[in-house]
Amino acid sequence: MTNQWHGRSVISVDGLTKEDLMGLFEVANEMKTLVETSGGNDMLKGRVMAALFYEPSSRTFASFVSAMERLGGGVIPLQGMANSSTAKGETLEDTAQVFSSYADVIVMRNPETGSAATLAHHAWVPVINAGDGLGEHPTQAMLDAYTIQSELGSIEHKHVVFVGELAHYRAVNSLARVLALFAGIKISFVSAPEFALQDEVRTFLKDNHVDFSEYENLDDVIADADALYVTRPKKEFISEELYQLALDKYVVDAATLSKMKQTSIVMHPLPRLGEITREVDADPRAVYLTKQMKNGLYVRMALLSLMLGQ
Ligand code: CP
Repeated sequence: MTNQWHGRSVISVDGLTKEDLMGLFEVANEMKTLVETSGGNDMLKGRVMAALFYEPSSRTFASFVSAMERLGGGVIPLQGMANSSTAKGETLEDTAQVFSSYADVIVMRNPETGSAATLAHHAWVPVINAGDGLGEHPTQAMLDAYTIQSELGSIEHKHVVFVGELAHYRAVNSLARVLALFAGIKISFVSAPEFALQDEVRTFLKDNHVDFSEYENLDDVIADADALYVTRPKKEFISEELYQLALDKYVVDAATLSKMKQTSIVMHPLPRLGEITREVDADPRAVYLTKQMKNGLYVRMALLSLMLGQ
């Protein structure tokens, strides 16, 4: 199979094919075995990744750093970028050129929608979007899709239910687009109208003839869900009243799980507040703190190895 990832920036999931993803998943499986058997190898020895984070991150930052180090590469780990060069007034155009001089790949999280595309335009090494404003979070979607594929055996003909505050969720924007690549996929979005899906995603799904519906009540769809994707209400974007509404109305607890199929899974990109109660964590269907998080490491190792490897 041709490696379509080599030297390519990952700014959006647009333009990805099902074959690209299946190739990535195959390498992620190999990375899982590698980590479980020897912890890593030296395949990216001599390569350097710059991790430029202008917004807080635990999982994306740490899993990218771990991925690079487990493959023998070096890391320039810059959290708090907003307090460094940007505070001095440096433009993204200049930052792109500076870090292209030091690193073989740049991973960036930034609060501005479209910033990753700007960085990639001015960089001469590949750029990975680790979340840009209300835009996209493509590698989160890749690890989420890999989790569905590995836990349910296939993404095709599955019913994925997104629940909660969906309007300000770049991971939802990216994952919905990725799911659209798979035959027979059915998607349900459950939220209050005040924080429903972004119009752009709705239009994308309509244009691509995806079977999707929107609901206000989780009970309308929960019994048929194969994967339940829970989201955190984002306090920074909604009023206190809507935040309380989200926490009251869209809580996943043991009663919710009792309505779900035994073969289903519960996912969350994390961090989680009160939208999934602690009692759910011990249920074997809850994969968010275990398999989904580990998959973030395997998928990011796979991506870096395909982008930078021989
Ligand atoms: N899921 C996710 O992006 O988490 P972080 O914000 O901790 O990176």
